[in-house]
Amino acid sequence: MADPIIKLEDVTKTYRSKKTLLKGADQTVVALNKVSLEIARGDIFGLVGQSGSGKTTTGRLIVKLEPPTAGRLTLDGKDITGLRGKRLAEYRRKVQMIFQDPYQSLNPYFSIFDTVAEPLTIHAEGNRAEQEETVFKALQSVGLSPPEDFFYRYPHELSGGQRQRVAIARAVVLKPEFVVADEPTSMLDASISIQIFSILQNLQSKMGVTFLFITHSLAAAWYLCNRIAVIYKGEIVETGSAEDVIKHPRHEYTRALIKAHPKFGKT
Ligand SMILES: Nc1ncnc2c1ncn2[C@@H]1O[C@H](COP(=O)(O)OP(=O)(O)OP(=O)(O)O)[C@@H](O)[C@H]1O
Ligand SMILES: [Mg+2]
Repeated sequence: MADPIIKLEDVTKTYRSKKTLLKGADQTVVALNKVSLEIARGDIFGLVGQSGSGKTTTGRLIVKLEPPTAGRLTLDGKDITGLRGKRLAEYRRKVQMIFQDPYQSLNPYFSIFDTVAEPLTIHAEGNRAEQEETVFKALQSVGLSPPEDFFYRYPHELSGGQRQRVAIARAVVLKPEFVVADEPTSMLDASISIQIFSILQNLQSKMGVTFLFITHSLAAAWYLCNRIAVIYKGEIVETGSAEDVIKHPRHEYTRALIKAHPKFGKT
């Protein structure tokens, strides 16, 4: 396998949940237990698992929204745990995240132009005219056209699918190398989901973005991804090419997922 762009080695994340009236003592939740993953450049890598299995936690650790409790994460072989200052800012340019809920992830008071231009402003990229050009291209790359018609609209004036396109434009406006897409279509209907998938595929093939695509749906991962890892209760139980995982599942949980889906199962 080619050198991985993102690698997780024995990554563990525990959370402390505060004591409640019902549960007397503080509880420790193990969200991830020694997770190891290798994502190669150019992959659309699917992370599949049920609710609470640790998918979002994996994404949040990769984009450095929070630190791991133990283990090591690397970008191009370089440890990212201790990044500070300038090197952290560089990392944030390269690695972005798209969130599940396009209704909550966009600031309602920001126009679409301001939403997509914000990362450029944060990273001091270009003057106003250059930013307009870059935002124009980003909106074009997610199929919002004509782009200029969206500049001065607000999130509440858009459909769910259009909002998610804006969120994707914002995530790719700095030309990142790696994007975590956390269930980007779970709030959208099937036909819109297919459109979003084709946008992700285009960004992968035209801009060379590598994706971690998080989903509870093995069918969606099979449709979109070249490699798949199955996560169950904070542990990776299966990794391989999409083909191998679907055709030769090794873990009981993967077999159950396949059986539960009419397209894969025999019944
Ligand atoms: N900030 C937190 N504090 C305490 N526990 C947390 C926190 N974040 C996540 N957890 C717990 O960690 C586990 C994994 O959560 P995570 O959000 O990663 O799951 P998920 O696979 O993304 O689920 P879903 O499909 O519902 O989004 C869950 O048991 C969750 O309750
Ligand atoms: Mg989640």
